[in-house]
Amino acid sequence: MSYIDQINKEKIPAHVAIIMDGNGRWAKSHAKMRLSGHQEGAKSVKRAIEVCGELGIKYLTVYAFSTENWNRPHTEVNGLMNLLANSIDKEFDEIHRNKIRIRIIGQIDKLPPNLQKKLKVVIDKTKDNDALNFIIALSYSGRWDIINAVKNIATDCSDNRISPDMIDDSLFEKYLSTNEIPDPELLIRTSGEERISNFLLYQLAYSELYFTDTLWPDFSKEDFYKAIINYQHRERRFGQTSEQLT
Ligand code: FPP
Repeated sequence: MSYIDQINKEKIPAHVAIIMDGNGRWAKSHAKMRLSGHQEGAKSVKRAIEVCGELGIKYLTVYAFSTENWNRPHTEVNGLMNLLANSIDKEFDEIHRNKIRIRIIGQIDKLPPNLQKKLKVVIDKTKDNDALNFIIALSYSGRWDIINAVKNIATDCSDNRISPDMIDDSLFEKYLSTNEIPDPELLIRTSGEERISNFLLYQLAYSELYFTDTLWPDFSKEDFYKAIINYQHRERRFGQTSEQLT
């Protein structure tokens, strides 16, 4: 039986987050420049979006650029920013036609002005699309997200818009960049690394973690189906016992 036929259509996660790792190693193993690895990785992003459409996954978040990635060589940083801008130009019509909503989480104001402008346009143009929510984490880190939320909560407390006793999970979540986006049920990380690397630190509290040795540019639709099948065989207990769940 093919992988797609093994997927239980009743147990599709609403939100999948991906740490797309291994582009550099893929490039090295093909004797290519690192940027070629990222270019090939952009094709995997397209495949992942297609899988979400096939399976009815409503939210896909990809870690495209972390706050730490600014420390990479300028040529790689510029290459990645150009790749993002070019990918948007190239894919926008298809994205919009497929009713995909684009969202960005992270410090948008740190990005090059031309990319910021482009992103603002596509965010606005796709805001009423209701198929997949495609969320790109850019200049993002989980600690930044939490600290930013805390700062805004502190400001709202001191301006008497809220009081400290109102702070609970549901209020805190409204201050995160993922406001109104459900927590991911599944996190996939490619390339054999088994770390969270400052991704969605608050939001991943109960996510199932799936690690694969496959490098991101090689991550095929079948690899994505396999991750979903693996997720569907997990027992999600949220701190309860197995007996309580049955
Ligand atoms: C990690 O691999 C990958 C990145 C830092 C960049 C990911 C970006 C893309 C795939 C570009 C396309 C994205 C979109 C949303 C169109 P790495 O460079 O750390 O690999 P390594 O650990 O093997 O060196």
